[in-house]
Amino acid sequence: MSIPNTQSDAPLDEAAAGQESPVSRARARRRSKQRRRLANVGGLMAALVLTGALYSVFAPAQAAEDSSSMSTAEAAGRDLYTRSCITCHGDNLEGVEGRGPSLIGVGEASVYFQVHTGRMPLVRQEAQAPDKPAVFSDKEVDQLMAYVQANGGGPTLPSGDLRDGDLAEGGELFRLNCASCHNFVGEGGALSSGKMAPSLADADDLTIYAAMLSGPENMPVFGDNQLTAEDKRSIINYVQTVHGQADPGGAGVGRMGPVAEGLVIWVVGVGALMFGIFWMGSKA
Ligand code: HEC
Ligand code: HEC
Repeated sequence: MSIPNTQSDAPLDEAAAGQESPVSRARARRRSKQRRRLANVGGLMAALVLTGALYSVFAPAQAAEDSSSMSTAEAAGRDLYTRSCITCHGDNLEGVEGRGPSLIGVGEASVYFQVHTGRMPLVRQEAQAPDKPAVFSDKEVDQLMAYVQANGGGPTLPSGDLRDGDLAEGGELFRLNCASCHNFVGEGGALSSGKMAPSLADADDLTIYAAMLSGPENMPVFGDNQLTAEDKRSIINYVQTVHGQADPGGAGVGRMGPVAEGLVIWVVGVGALMFGIFWMGSKA
């Protein structure tokens, strides 16, 4: 009996266990099962507690980051402002005598217009800040807008589609409000004192909106009392539609219709006739 027992483990175990009664053996098995179950529950609890702890550590940090993300853009904007604008517009947007006007109350609309079209930062003083390739990226323009808006306040820009206005209504409003300076189809024109109203051909939707809201240079401000948001969208639709059209019949001649075309016929056509008449007369 003892020789085969030493040859394999299982019979040995049985022999060791054999010293206990079958009842206590069953109890021990049940106890170890309970222990395993307890260990499982304990593990689960630990995992839950750990998850909770991790969540409580990271979630508030995330929330704090979210609430400060506005001021992150603003802070970045402040840095850009300090670097590029402060010499002319002052420490607190109040303006600097003889250099640049106050930016308090001009709002993000004006900042978008001036910086996006490259007028600002101004390089040298002249009759009119020229538009040139923008110095700042779109993101930086956003940051400057956030900074000026938060510290100076003023008109804000809309988002979404700006061309959903009524086309015919837009044409009417454009001729009424804008054509005196920008010409009938927005081709621009000269104003007094070396200033000029630029062509609107290259202006994007938001620039047109921002121009109306902020009224740069000689241009009047068209606040929402003068032109409702709906009116502004109609005008934008008109301006962009006119510039999207090709000239199928040759030169556009200012696109003013029969009057301009008649003028061309008068000057060129009658000029050619006169030339022919005088030429024949001088031969005779
Ligand atoms: C060299 C001086 C100078 C610098 C630098 C300069 N500006 Fe200006 N800014 C002016 C002057 C002068 C005007 C007004 C004349 C004009 O609009 O052409 C003006 C006008 C503006 C306006 C329009 C204000 C209004 O009444 O609507 C805004 C907005 C503006 N600047 C923003 C900026 C920002 C943003 C920067 C920096 C990125 C900047 N400027 C840098 C001189 C400067
Ligand atoms: C009294 C003349 C005048 C009237 C009226 C006027 N503008 Fe202007 N507009 C200007 C001048 C001047 C500028 C150039 C401003 C500058 O360079 O800072 C300008 C600039 C603009 C620009 C910027 C163009 C670009 O690409 O840089 C847009 C867009 C514009 N105007 C749209 C309009 C619209 C739309 C209306 C009618 C609701 C209108 N303007 C009425 C004089 C006028």
